[in-house]
Amino acid sequence: MEILILPTKQEACVLGARWIARLLRNKSHAVLGLATGSTPVLLYRELIRLHREERLDFSGVTSFNLDEYLGLGPDHPASYRRFMEENLFQHINIAPEKTHIPNGLATDVPAACATYEEEIQRAGGIDLQILGIGGDGHIGFNEPGSSLSSRTRIKTLTDRTRRDNAQFFEKPGDIPWHVITMGVGTIMDAREILLLAFGKGKAAPIAAAVEGPVTASVPASILQFHPKATILLDEEAASGLERADYYRWVHEHKPGWQRV
Ligand code: PGA
Repeated sequence: MEILILPTKQEACVLGARWIARLLRNKSHAVLGLATGSTPVLLYRELIRLHREERLDFSGVTSFNLDEYLGLGPDHPASYRRFMEENLFQHINIAPEKTHIPNGLATDVPAACATYEEEIQRAGGIDLQILGIGGDGHIGFNEPGSSLSSRTRIKTLTDRTRRDNAQFFEKPGDIPWHVITMGVGTIMDAREILLLAFGKGKAAPIAAAVEGPVTASVPASILQFHPKATILLDEEAASGLERADYYRWVHEHKPGWQRV
C-alpha cells in the first residue's frame, strides 16, 4: 500500500487525474471503477479539464460504478446515475452504453447483482478502481461487518451513512435504507485501487484502515492485502497517521521511473 499525502485536496485531485490519464494513454480500452460522493468531484473536474484541454480520450473506456440507491431511478436528483452524468459523463467522450451503474429500480435484486458481476467479468475486469471512504470505514456501501469476500449485493445503510448523505436529499425521510453495492471481494479484484480521502472527518477512518488491524469492522482495512493500492490524502485526512513522516519520506525519495 502506498500512502501519498498532498498539501491540499486540489493538488491530490490533480495527481489522481494524472494517474488515470496515464492509464488511459497506455490502455485506451481501460475499465474504470468509479465512485460517487463529495470526494471525487474535484477529481472528475480535473479529468474533464484534461479531456477538453489535453484531449484525454475516453471513447474506448468502459466504467462500472460502485453502488446505487435502491428505489431511485436514473432521473432522481440524488441517484448516482444522475450524479455521474452531471459530474463526469456529460462532459467527456465516454460512450453512454459503456457506463454501468447498478440498477436502482431492479425488481429482482439478486439477479441484477449477478448480472453486474458478469458484466464486469465480460469487460475483462476493472483496471483501476476509484474509492472514497466512509466516516465508518466503509468502501462502496460495504458497511462495517460486511464480509471481506462479498460480491455485488443488497446492503442496508447504517444510520450514520444515511445522516452523512442527507445533504443530497430534500428531506431525511427520502434517504433510502437499501442500496446495491459492489462487494469488498469485487473491489479487491480490481488490478489497481486509488482511494481518495480529504478533510478532518476522514482522519480516523484512514488511520484505522491504513495502520489498524485488517477487520470487517473497518472494510477499507482490507486494502492492506491489495497488491497495488494507493491512498491519496490531503494533510487533514492524514493527520491521524502515526507513520505520516515515513510515507512522505518514501514519496520524496521515489526513483524517477516510479513517479506519475
Ligand atoms: P464522501 O463519501 O465522498 O461523500 O465523503 C465517501 C464514501 O462514503 O465512500
